[in-house]
Amino acid sequence: MARLVTLDAAGSSITGPTATLIYDDWYPALRSDRLRGNSLHTAMLLDFPLVLGRRRDGRIFAMRDSCPHRGIPLSVGWFDGEHVTCRYHGWEFEPCSGQCEAIPSLTRVDRLDPTKIYASAYPCVERDGYAWVYIPGAGAGRKLDLADLRPVPELAKYSPKYRTAHLTADLPCNVDHGIIGLMDPAHGPFVHQAWWWRSRGSIREKTKKFEPIPEGFRMAAHAPSGNSAPYKLLGVYGEPVQTTIDFQLPNRRYETIRCGSKWFTSLTTVTPVTASTCRIDVVAAWNVFYHLPLVTPIAKFFGAKFVRQDQVTMIQQAEGLRHNPSLMLIDDADKPAKWYFALKQARIDGSGKHPMDGPVELHWRS
Ligand code: FES
Ligand SMILES: [Fe+2]
Repeated sequence: MARLVTLDAAGSSITGPTATLIYDDWYPALRSDRLRGNSLHTAMLLDFPLVLGRRRDGRIFAMRDSCPHRGIPLSVGWFDGEHVTCRYHGWEFEPCSGQCEAIPSLTRVDRLDPTKIYASAYPCVERDGYAWVYIPGAGAGRKLDLADLRPVPELAKYSPKYRTAHLTADLPCNVDHGIIGLMDPAHGPFVHQAWWWRSRGSIREKTKKFEPIPEGFRMAAHAPSGNSAPYKLLGVYGEPVQTTIDFQLPNRRYETIRCGSKWFTSLTTVTPVTASTCRIDVVAAWNVFYHLPLVTPIAKFFGAKFVRQDQVTMIQQAEGLRHNPSLMLIDDADKPAKWYFALKQARIDGSGKHPMDGPVELHWRS
């Protein structure tokens, strides 16, 4: 696995952490509209194989895709809208709690109480069109009470009426490369060249204010760069446009653009599928141009193109990373990546130490 070497202010190198995964938090497993009828779906999150479905009463569930008896995937069994039945020996489970309710082989003389047996079921909540699953750390025990858990992430919406769109792309790199690619300001003019966005020639010096937030940092409200066509388009409303971008552990980037009563928000997550692969998911909501019917497909088209450009670059990068190069992070353009690694380290070692002690300005050219 490639290790990141970061350069300190004096230019000497510090080795960064390897791609450890962050447990005890919420990750999007799949789009929840796929969970329909009595179908079972599989997903992989942080190397946990999951089976997901929706009970007849509408509640969604996520279990470890493995029977506690002898380990066959529960997804190859049966689901009747209330119980998941294992294909091997027919044990029946209530899928939200994982509780076993019947073991067909038991006789009158057996003393085993099936209800004392549990398959692993994880907290699972439907929000912004995703099935969010809480992935516990090793030895965390059974956690099903939402009140004991961190809040489920949610995309902000600033009016009752809005439109939404979502995108997804698999990335062949570990979650850290996916995340630092997401917050990297210097790749824009090279990876995202397009006549409607920007070109290499549009590079200029930027100064952005950042401030610490709990387990993350905020790029403070600023007027977006005037060299980006979509932002120019927003200017038609004739009011100042303000953009805020937050990054928060374990993997979330929230963007909010507001212009008077008009707004656009997005939540981008980079989720570890396995220790060495990840997936990027973007969900966006807006009330800008609400009445223009074509805006959703157009937004999806441009959004997809943008994500595709990042994906292609990361596929190429993964090719290079196969040979374990040592890498570097430089100031100021890679400073957000350095904060990310420090925040992650603080979360993993439980120190809660924030790498920023107050607002700072970063400078780069992009
Ligand atoms: S393996 Fe599932 S019931 Fe035996
Ligand atoms: Fe990008």
